[in-house]
Order: sequence, then C-alpha cells, then structure tokens
Amino acid sequence: MSKPAVIYYSASGHGTAMANRVAAAAEAAGTEARVCHIAETRDPQSFAQNPAWTANHEATKDLPAASGEDIVWADAIIFGSPTRFGGQTSQFRAFIDTLGELWAQGKLADKIYAGLTSSQTAHGGQETTLMNLYTTLMHFGGIIVAPGYTDPAKFVDGNPYGVSHVSGPENKNPLDEAALNALDHLARRVVSLADRLGAERRLSFQLGERVDGPPARPAGAPRSRRRFRSGFAVLGAAIDRCARRLQMGMGVGRGGREPLAAVVGGASEFPELPQVR
Ligand SMILES: Cc1cc2nc3c(=O)[nH]c(=O)nc-3n(C[C@H](O)[C@H](O)[C@H](O)COP(=O)(O)O)c2cc1C
Repeated sequence: MSKPAVIYYSASGHGTAMANRVAAAAEAAGTEARVCHIAETRDPQSFAQNPAWTANHEATKDLPAASGEDIVWADAIIFGSPTRFGGQTSQFRAFIDTLGELWAQGKLADKIYAGLTSSQTAHGGQETTLMNLYTTLMHFGGIIVAPGYTDPAKFVDGNPYGVSHVSGPENKNPLDEAALNALDHLARRVVSLADRLGAERRLSFQLGERVDGPPARPAGAPRSRRRFRSGFAVLGAAIDRCARRLQMGMGVGRGGREPLAAVVGGASEFPELPQVR
C-alpha cells in the first residue's frame, strides 16, 4: 500500500482543512497518510491582528513541521499552499529551498506529486499557483498526477490542475461540497496510481530489471550494457513487458491489470490492482 504525505502551508486555516480532508480520504483508501504543516517563518506578532491566522498558528505550531525526510518517506506527496499574488507563499518556497541536497541525491525523483491551493477570489491566481508548483516538481523528476476531468466531481469544481478552494471576500468560506468531493477524488487517484507504480516497481525488480538507475561500477569492472541502461532502455523493458503480457493474452490496459501476478509466477504479492478513478 502506498505511503502518501500531505505537505502544506496554511496561514488562516483553509489549507489546513484541505490537507486534513485529503489525508482522511487517502486513509479511507487504505493508507496511513502523513499530514505535515510547513513551519511559519513570520513573527506571530506580525499577524496578531488576524484571528484566523493566529488560531491556525496556535493549533499547528507544536506539531512536527514538515521536513525533506517526509518526502523521502512518502511515495506520493500532495503539496498545498495558499495563492499569494498568483504564486505560492514565501513560507512554502522557504521549505522548497531546503530540499537542494535531497534533490542532488535524486531522492525527490520518481514519486507521485499533486497540488492544492486556495485563494480569496474565484480563480484569483489558483491555476498559476499550481502550474508554478508543477514547474518545481518537474525539476524534482516527479510524476505529476493532475486530476484532469477523470471524475464527475471535476466537472463541478472545474479545476483540472489540482484542487482549489475559494475562501471568499471575508476569507471565511468553509470548504464546499465541490471542493470536498474534489479532494476525496484527488486522494483516491493519487493513492491508486501510487499503488500501481509500486506494484510495477516490485514486478520490475522480480524480473531483474532496475528502475532506479545504474548502480556504481566497481573500479576496474568492465562496462556492460546492462549496468548502463539508459532511461530509454528502461522504457524498452516496459514495452517488452507489455508485449509479453499481450502474448500471454493478458492485455495491457485497464482490463489487463489483474493477472500481473501471473508474470512473476502467481506471486500473491500482486492482488487485484485498483482502478485509477
Ligand atoms: C499577501 C497575500 C497575497 C494574496 N494574494 C492573493 C491572490 O493573488 N489572489 C487571491 O484571490 N487571494 C489572495 N490572497 C488571499 C489568500 O490566498 C486566501 O486568503 C487563502 O484562502 C488563504 O489560505 P490559508 O487559509 O490556507 O492561509 C492573498 C493573501 C495574502 C496575505
């Protein structure tokens, strides 16, 4: 089962509500989700006149703050930040700026990522906030799982890029049904795809294929084609696998997932895989 982490910054609490909802939906899908707030960087005195910001800060400040290790632990990460002038908050970016070393070690790559945001006005820069977040995730080598219109709920909330909430002119709107359904759907989709990716990885290892890049070559050892397989070679292996499955009459699309276990000799490690939606 996948290990999702919801890593978010929230000032006045809308992001906290979104993070808790999406994590609850991920847990309902059978995972143990981590919810990690990103630490406040501002002096609480500077927002003391804002009761919602103060209350949210008080409620979260003693909980463990997010660290890069939460990303390393997880195989699926849902990031959240309010929209500020069409982008993420400085607190969120400060957290991202701590990740250089993990990035350099390749530890942020090959994970599933998705995004959440909220803004006071409708649209209000929500889509640019998410799109800009995804630029960063591409630098990670992440696998971005956009919700698209893969569920009827997405035709109601209307955001194919992630999930967003409009907190309104008074910044007090609670999450409405459209946002709640969209959060639930995003959680299910992320968990489902992370499970499938995990199963595919285990299968690749059982078939003797490496999916995490070449190991270090011992000094003096001959260069072999196998040691230095490129990303294209890995893709080639995936195509080979599909071809093998087709030969075995299993198919490679939706209807062809269940017999994955047969490829590795009926291992019970691969029960019926969930659907994406
Ligand atoms: C400095 C600043 C900039 C903001 N920029 C925008 C914006 O560009 N568009 C918008 O609609 N709301 C904007 N907002 C409002 C927040 O996005 C909104 O209150 C959000 O729902 C807060 O989420 P939170 O409760 O998780 O902190 C801004 C708020 C602040 C403090």
